[in-house]
Amino acid sequence: LNYLVAKDRRFITNTLISGLARLEYRGYDSAGLAIDGDSNDVLIYKQVGKVAAVKKLVSEATVDFEKEFVSHCGMAHTQLKTVLEKKGYMFESETDTEAVAKLAKYLYDSQKSNENLSFTALVKGVIKELEGAFALIFKSVRFPNEVVATRRGSPLLVGVKTEKKLKVDFVDVEFGTDSAFAPTEEKVDGNLLSPTDGHPKLRRSQSRAFLSEDGLPQPIEYFLASDPSAIVEHTKRVLYLEDDDIAHISDGELHIHRLRRDDGISAVRSIQTLEIELAEIMKGSFDHFMQKEIFEQPESVVNTMRGRVNFESHKVTLGGLKAYLATIRRCRRIVFCACGTSYHSCVATRAIFEELTEIPVSVELASDFLDRKTPIFRDDVCVFVSQSGETADTILALRYCLERGALCLGITNTVGSTISRETHCGVHINAGPEIGVASTKAYTSQFIALVMMAIQLSEDRSSMTQRRKSIIDELKKLPEYIQNVLSIDKELKQLAKDVLYKEKSLLIMGRGFQNATCLEGALKIKEVSYMHSEGILAGELKHGPLALIDENMPVILIMTKDSLYPKVQSALQQVTARKGQPIIICNDGDEGISSQYKTIRVPQTVDCLQGLITIIPLQILSYHLAVLHGVDVDFPRNLAKSREKA
Ligand code: G6P
Repeated sequence: LNYLVAKDRRFITNTLISGLARLEYRGYDSAGLAIDGDSNDVLIYKQVGKVAAVKKLVSEATVDFEKEFVSHCGMAHTQLKTVLEKKGYMFESETDTEAVAKLAKYLYDSQKSNENLSFTALVKGVIKELEGAFALIFKSVRFPNEVVATRRGSPLLVGVKTEKKLKVDFVDVEFGTDSAFAPTEEKVDGNLLSPTDGHPKLRRSQSRAFLSEDGLPQPIEYFLASDPSAIVEHTKRVLYLEDDDIAHISDGELHIHRLRRDDGISAVRSIQTLEIELAEIMKGSFDHFMQKEIFEQPESVVNTMRGRVNFESHKVTLGGLKAYLATIRRCRRIVFCACGTSYHSCVATRAIFEELTEIPVSVELASDFLDRKTPIFRDDVCVFVSQSGETADTILALRYCLERGALCLGITNTVGSTISRETHCGVHINAGPEIGVASTKAYTSQFIALVMMAIQLSEDRSSMTQRRKSIIDELKKLPEYIQNVLSIDKELKQLAKDVLYKEKSLLIMGRGFQNATCLEGALKIKEVSYMHSEGILAGELKHGPLALIDENMPVILIMTKDSLYPKVQSALQQVTARKGQPIIICNDGDEGISSQYKTIRVPQTVDCLQGLITIIPLQILSYHLAVLHGVDVDFPRNLAKSREKA
């Protein structure tokens, strides 16, 4: 019974190259792939630069692309940096992936006499020596047709492709002994060894998982990737590996090993169905992902609210928080913790959170929170906001709070991410995959998720009924408002070209609910256009920033109609008194603004949601400035989509 799938070498290299291309948005600077050669050797194609360079290399290769493999392991990886020279090995590159490979060789050679050394045992030995975050795939001429994958800190998933539906949707974890090099280390839990279902080759866990509903073994293709976007065009069925899981694929079987049973990690890995569509990670008619994602916001904000906000009864229900509402309401304070744009979504919603819940909220940058060893207590509620769910500092802050017994919530855009798995409960923002390095639609969706959370938490406060109702009524109109701002794209492009593009610096000022828009707008501009930009709290103007103002300093002032309008008017006077000529972001129909100023007019909404609208023109401006400056918009230099370290 042949349950393996025959694929030719071209299919395998194409799969690896398209997977690498889908991961380019993460900002790697080199890429490579390895496939089996003809005689127990491995063919390696690697290049510094973009995936296209590897593709070219492969297309020029003189190997037999029609050659079919019944069982084939191919892998592609991007490279990191470290050293292992102490062991006496010579290094060909600057990457730490090479060091891991050299370490594997060193351990293998030192155990050569051990004929029973398995590939998984070797990898266990390797990862015991490693510190920090990694996601690794091992392949070796010593273990032909086998591949071993493992992770710690960085995500890694196994895509499972079968023709028919599988009988069960999980894989049992197999526990070895503590000694990675004991010849009997594959001492698997007795139950798992008993052959069942009439297929002696499969262990029970495997046979259960990889038989189709009709009881027959399934031809299976496996895809290993650090991000679902690399494999979604092949399969939507994925299994996320946990830290220190060792996945072994050989002979069409997948086995997941761990050293010990008692490390508190669940003994099953479920096979989940991804909800993303290939179209969602394609640019479509847009020139860049960032542009596509900005223009997607009328839909992405609806997706965040779908099934959660009832616009008739004015109620919000976040299923992921339901069981914890009473505990959250009783807490002594709420701590928001995040990095970058996600941090700004926390700044943006802190005030409405405090107003609706009457619980003090502090907002923390994850790195600084850790640097300060901030005191955290059992009756604190900590909210970790992260688009990727994989930002290292945010994860470390989460673990720090878990250790101190706080209730931990995750707000992420990535189902199955470390933050969504390690928090007690949380909210997925459902904005769809965000590929552009500069975060746009995730910001507006995080903002809405936090507002929804505040509304639900305040449900027991009748004094807030009217406030909640007015917010929910306006949440409904968001897509229309955002669409309205998107329609001035051309004017904003012109403004970028005529007024801002040649400038070296740009100050963005506002206060109250608009403070976060200033910070986030300035971050967008510096991230993608490399132009210096600073967000300034208008209330702080006279305490320093005013010294920067003269007729040459470009300023954008956010002056929307809320209770702080008179105070922002006074900031405008202070700026004009120093010959500043600000561009004003104001509300449609605001007649109070002199025609001497350039204005960007946006629809007016309730104060606490206004920031969702004022950020849109700044996202668009930053995009056009980036294009004008010739920046590779989706891959700004020195930045990556999710950061391993601060
Ligand atoms: C990186 C990205 C930023 C992002 C930040 C936090 O620095 O370049 O755009 O805001 O990480 O990422 P997260 O996935 O945790 O929201």
